[in-house]
Order: sequence, then C-alpha cells, then structure tokens
Amino acid sequence: MLLIKNIGTLQTPVGSCKHGGGKQGENIKLHDAAILIEDGIIKAITQGGILPEGCENAEVIDAGGALVTPGLIDCHTHMVFGGYRQGEIPLKLRGATYLDILRAGGGILDTVGKTRAATEDELYEKTKAFLDEMLTLGVTTAESKSGYGLDLENELKQLRVNKRLQADHKMDLVSTFLGAHAIPEEYKGRADEYIDLLCDVVLPAVKEEGLADFVDVFCEDSVFDVTQSEKMLKAGQALGLRARIHADEIEEIGGAVLSGELGAISAEHLIATGEKGMASMAKGGVIADLLPCTSLYLNKTFAPARRMIELGIPVAIASDFNPGSCPSLNLQLAMSMGYVKYHMTPEEILTAVTINAACSCGLEEKVGTLEVGKQADIVIWNAPDMEMLVYRFGSNLAKTVIKRGEVV
Ligand code: NIG
Ligand code: FE
Repeated sequence: MLLIKNIGTLQTPVGSCKHGGGKQGENIKLHDAAILIEDGIIKAITQGGILPEGCENAEVIDAGGALVTPGLIDCHTHMVFGGYRQGEIPLKLRGATYLDILRAGGGILDTVGKTRAATEDELYEKTKAFLDEMLTLGVTTAESKSGYGLDLENELKQLRVNKRLQADHKMDLVSTFLGAHAIPEEYKGRADEYIDLLCDVVLPAVKEEGLADFVDVFCEDSVFDVTQSEKMLKAGQALGLRARIHADEIEEIGGAVLSGELGAISAEHLIATGEKGMASMAKGGVIADLLPCTSLYLNKTFAPARRMIELGIPVAIASDFNPGSCPSLNLQLAMSMGYVKYHMTPEEILTAVTINAACSCGLEEKVGTLEVGKQADIVIWNAPDMEMLVYRFGSNLAKTVIKRGEVV
C-alpha cells in the first residue's frame, strides 16, 4: 500500500467520459488531500487533512503541499521512426513549406527511408528511450502510430515495436495503424492502388497479428483525398479498429466533415477547420485532438479551440511528437501553448490532457481521472496549482511520477 499525503491541491476531472462545452472546464479541487493506493489502484481519496482509513501500514510519500493531478495522456504521437530530420529546418527557414518538402521526396518520405533501413530492435530501443523520457515529464499513457514503413514488412515492423513495448514498458500504450501517412515513392501517382494494397493486404495482416487498436489516415492536399481516406477508415472499421483521422492540418479538404460522418473517435490537428467541419464533429461526437506545438513548429495558425469548446466539441491536447513537424515530446509544453495560443483555461487544459485524451485512446474506464477504482497514475508537481504549471513553459515541473502505484 502507498499513501500520498499532504497534497496541497488535488485537481482532476471526474467520470469516465469525454467532456465538451462547459464541462471541459469542470475539475474538482480537493485541499489538504490524501490518496491511498493498493495493488496499483486508487483505494481512497480524502481531504481536509483527514487520512484514509486503513492507511497505517502504508508506505508514505509526502507531497509537501504541492499540486497533484492524474498522469498526463499523450493521445497523438509518431514515436517509432528511424533517424531525424534536422536538415529540413534551414530549407523551411528559406521558405519551403511542409508540403513542398514532402512533394520533393523529403519530409515523411525521408523518414520512411531511414525507418525501412532500421531493424526492429533498433527502433525498439529508440522508442523505449522516448517512453522513458515521457514518463519523466509526467506522461503515463500514450498513443503511437505507424506510418513510416509504408509497405507490408515495414508497417508491421513498426507496429511490432508498439506491441513489444506494450508488454515490456511501464507506459500504457495504444497502437494506431497509419499506413496511409504518405504515398510511398514506388506508388507515386498511384494513390488509389496504394490504398487498395493497404486495405486488401496490410490491414488484414495488422488485424491478424493484433497489432493495432486504431486506424488513421493523413487526409490532406497532395496526400490522401476524402474518398481515399473514407475507404481506408471504413476498411479499418470493418475489421473492428476504431477510426481517427489527420484532418485539415494544412488545407481544409473535408477531413473533419468525414470524421463526423464516420463517427471517428477523434479528428486530429484541425488547424484549418471551419464551421462545416466543426458542425460535423459536434454532431458525430468526435473528439478534437489539438496539437499546438505543430502549429508553432510549422509557423501556422492555431486550431480554433475556443470555437470548438463553444460548440460542445470535447478537446484533447497532444504532442504530435515526430521527426518533422514536432520534434518535441514535452506534453507540458503543449499544455502551455494551449494556454497562451488556444486561450484555454488551466482547468480545460487538464481535462484535455487527461480524461479527454483517455477517451481518444479508448482507455477512459481505466485512466484519466483520480477516482476510487481507477489506476493509480499520478503526478506530484513542482507547482502549487495548475496556473503555475501552464505558465512556467519549457521547464519540466513533474516532481514525482507514479505509474500503477509505483514511483518511476
Ligand atoms: O502529424 N501530418 C502528418 N504527420 C505528422 C508529421 C510527420 C512527419 O513530418 O514526419 C504530423 O504532423
Ligand atoms: Fe500527426
């Protein structure tokens, strides 16, 4: 048994469902609180200086009056990749756009070459180190996409890394098949045929080995159009994978509208999304996974988060960690960007990186709030309150990270 006592403020959303509209900003705040943990599960929560019954023999952590929240959840990453792409930055600074670089065979396709060249073990070790780093930053659950293999062998290789890490690593990890992330060189000009390969050959193999929980597609100008995206996502849904979609990251070509029509679990990026896309998302109950560090790094505008909240769309915030558009895996930084660029409140931001992100990962029954019966994924912060946490951008304010009841 573990007892965390002397918690200045315990702040958490409640319930095991996504929160949109006014509920996005609803957190409970308990003062002078304590949490009792047994077998990795929260057994009791008390406040007002009272300690839970039966805590006498527990090991004790004194939170020293600090802020305590649920472990953070990063619901959108591309963390399994070969090499890096630091050489792209000078090109970008000279004016090349993200899509210019991709059309010229760089960008994602550059990483595809490096990922194909890497062994599964090399990718495993590299990704494991990223997960270790994420834990130190207070992230206790994450999503991980494929999409740098773009053929049967290499997509499976990336997803097998996810599967091994699901078994070996402390992090709770959900796996997404993003074979439709770019058109590989060998299918240049033949995007429809590539989608057929994914639907007819790769996806069934992914399903057969139980390698993914979700199917995703990069629905974007010069990448996959709405018709191709719909085909890909429906093929995944037919095999029992839940759909998510990279929508309106750069151009608004209809991805957000499609997400609502298909009842996708989430639509992600949404930098260029307008009223029609948001109306469809609101109607379809789609979570908006927003990625502010990508806007920052691509020198783009920021997704219309406030309008989404007004429309009742549940907002999640994630890192988008990848070697191109966001080489940072620091979710605390994304939270600060949510504060100053999306104008979200600290309470709305906490909901975005905990329960709403948990819903986007399909793990809302298990994680995402501090409540009796939930997994004891907890962060003690070097901060007295959420205001301080989102204000001090760039520092790692996670003081003690507890995963399934154990200090990591
Ligand atoms: O979410 N947009 C597509 N995928 C990633 C970028 C991947 C890359 O540039 O390697 C994203 O931004
Ligand atoms: Fe992404």
